[in-house]
Parts: sequence; C-alpha cells; structure tokens
Amino acid sequence: MGVVLCASEALEEGGKACVFDVLAWGQPARAFVLRVDAAVVSYLNRCVHVPTEMDWQEGQFLDGDRRFIVCSIHGASYDPADGRCVGGPCGRGRLTALSVREEGGQVTWYPSEHIRPVFEDGPDAPAPACAPAG
Ligand code: FES
Repeated sequence: MGVVLCASEALEEGGKACVFDVLAWGQPARAFVLRVDAAVVSYLNRCVHVPTEMDWQEGQFLDGDRRFIVCSIHGASYDPADGRCVGGPCGRGRLTALSVREEGGQVTWYPSEHIRPVFEDGPDAPAPACAPAG
C-alpha cells in the first residue's frame, strides 16, 4: 500500500526536497523526495562514502546548477535519475532508491521490504506525510 508524502505541487523543479522519516533495515533513517528534470525521485538520505545524511540544510540536496545531488560533507555527486555516483568519493556506489509515483496530484511512496514507514497502518498511527522542507 502506498504512503502519500506530499502534494505534487509541493515539489518544485530543482527545488527543495521533502525529507521524511523511515525505518531502513529496522533502523530509524531519513529519506527525501525531489523533482528534477520533471521527474520525482526518492532516495535514502545516506551518502555512499560515509553513511551520513547529505543535506547541508534540510531539503537542500542539489548543486548550484540543479543538476546533481551533492553530499555536503565531502562533495560526492550523484545522478538524480538513478542515484549513481558521478564524482567525488562515492566510487562505484549508488544511493538507495525508494519507489515513488505521482498520481492524482499527489506523490506516493511504495515501501519495500527493507525500507518501511515509521508508523505502520493502524487506528492510532499518525499520518506519515513528508514534512515540508521549510
Ligand atoms: S560523507 Fe558524503 S562525500 Fe563523504
């Protein structure tokens, strides 16, 4: 079942990402979703070089040209289209992608076996929506 993250219009082309909490392999982590080249893409907020969050300010993942996702720690660059490392100390690594789709004016995440919502469905579960990135 999909998890609605945000409205489509919340993600501007080349703009800030929405950052949201997940459980990755059972551990608390963060992920982000952003729009670049008209496509909505989502990755775990975890650099391949050192497993740390990459945004220097929450939601700021893109370089000045809005072309690559850049880690603020040592400058690893990733292709937003597929998460592949294209420069810097990330070698042959690749960001961990999350499956997202745009449908009905909303951006929906489809969790995998290993990357799950923090709150599973239930009567008391808070809405696991993506926090606006300010
Ligand atoms: S931690 Fe991301 S480039 Fe080093």
